[in-house]
Amino acid sequence: MGLILKTNELIKEALEARKMSYSPYSKYKVGAALLTKDGKVYRGCNIENAAYTPTNCAERTAFFKALSEGEHDFESIAVVGGYGDIPEGYAYPCGVCRQVMMEFCDSKTFKVITAISENEYIEKTLEELLPLGFGPSNL
Ligand code: THU
Repeated sequence: MGLILKTNELIKEALEARKMSYSPYSKYKVGAALLTKDGKVYRGCNIENAAYTPTNCAERTAFFKALSEGEHDFESIAVVGGYGDIPEGYAYPCGVCRQVMMEFCDSKTFKVITAISENEYIEKTLEELLPLGFGPSNL
């Protein structure tokens, strides 16, 4: 295994993260695995709340864990979501998560991988998911 994980290995991390999902209200379980440029992986899951709005998505959980440990250089993120034991469809990051990514990633090179299994995935750049976005370079 090199410095940068293979995509299927990052997806495996996201599937593991999904097992920790706290989603008693929507029952929709999401896992994310954020890869830093130096090869570290930060896992995240969605964490819901009885008051609903404090809910945190899996992607932001992963980002905030990494950022709070001093990480600032990100390569890619894998996301898996669904109701069942196995994701039944492709889950894309919500708009709020895309905006958080925009704050900390180069949108032309940062990759978002949405997967239904280790070997079935779609890869997009952040720019494809958030075209003409507003970020730090606009200020
Ligand atoms: N959710 C995520 O964790 N990531 C996404 O990209 C989409 C939505 C969560 C939030 C909530 O707990 C549940 O999925 C249903 O919206």
